[in-house]
Amino acid sequence: MDVREALYTTRMMRRMRPDPIPVDVQGRILDAAIRAPNGGNAQRWHFLAVDDPALKAELATLYRTAREREYAEIDAGTLGRTRHDPVAHAETLGRIKKSGDYFTEHFEEIPLLLFVFAIDDHGGANIYPAIWSALLAARAEGVGGTITTVLRYQADEVVKLLGVPTDEGWQMTAMLALGYPLGRWGVAANRRPVHEVSSRNRWDRPYTPEIPSPLWGTSGD
Ligand SMILES: Cc1cc2nc3c(=O)[nH]c(=O)nc-3n(C[C@H](O)[C@H](O)[C@H](O)COP(=O)(O)O)c2cc1C
Repeated sequence: MDVREALYTTRMMRRMRPDPIPVDVQGRILDAAIRAPNGGNAQRWHFLAVDDPALKAELATLYRTAREREYAEIDAGTLGRTRHDPVAHAETLGRIKKSGDYFTEHFEEIPLLLFVFAIDDHGGANIYPAIWSALLAARAEGVGGTITTVLRYQADEVVKLLGVPTDEGWQMTAMLALGYPLGRWGVAANRRPVHEVSSRNRWDRPYTPEIPSPLWGTSGD
């Protein structure tokens, strides 16, 4: 697959078929992920692939509780995260909530949960290149997925269930949910264009030339 196609179309897929991901495909995804850059090449990362139905069922319960806690914070306005203007952003948030609801209801059917752990992940900087590589490699295999961090609300229960040696400093960064998507791949188009989020030479100078629409995927490339 052309690298630009992978970059443009690796959207988050929350609706997926229950069909298992063959172990050779899983291997190619992980083997690509561990090529990612990381500080000092210390590789203080650990990938835990969960496909056992009984474990997935227990994790589903934890995920549902975690999500309820997150939405309780969103509703109370106490989530310590900077959000966009909630009114302007309402439609997007509504869409994410709807597909998140589907994802949560069908959690047990997700074929593969890939937990990503790190020691001292530098606020994620040390581990997100590998996470993104895993998703791009999955995309090349026709496998879709979603990055989730909501299980952090139930992190103590998750690490206990999965037998993580937290005394060595391992912490859960994210859980990737992977599977063959029900939806179609398309350009992740709902993004503010480059010139709205960039500048040239100084912060207050415009970025030119403007790029009003995606540079890939709109002209049959
Ligand atoms: C650090 C991070 C955490 C995320 N956590 C979640 C999550 O817990 N649950 C979820 O459904 N999506 C999660 N996402 C996915 C975002 O909601 C998604 O990337 C965004 O809505 C854009 O969607 P698109 O890539 O399909 O256009 C997360 C993404 C990132 C980068």
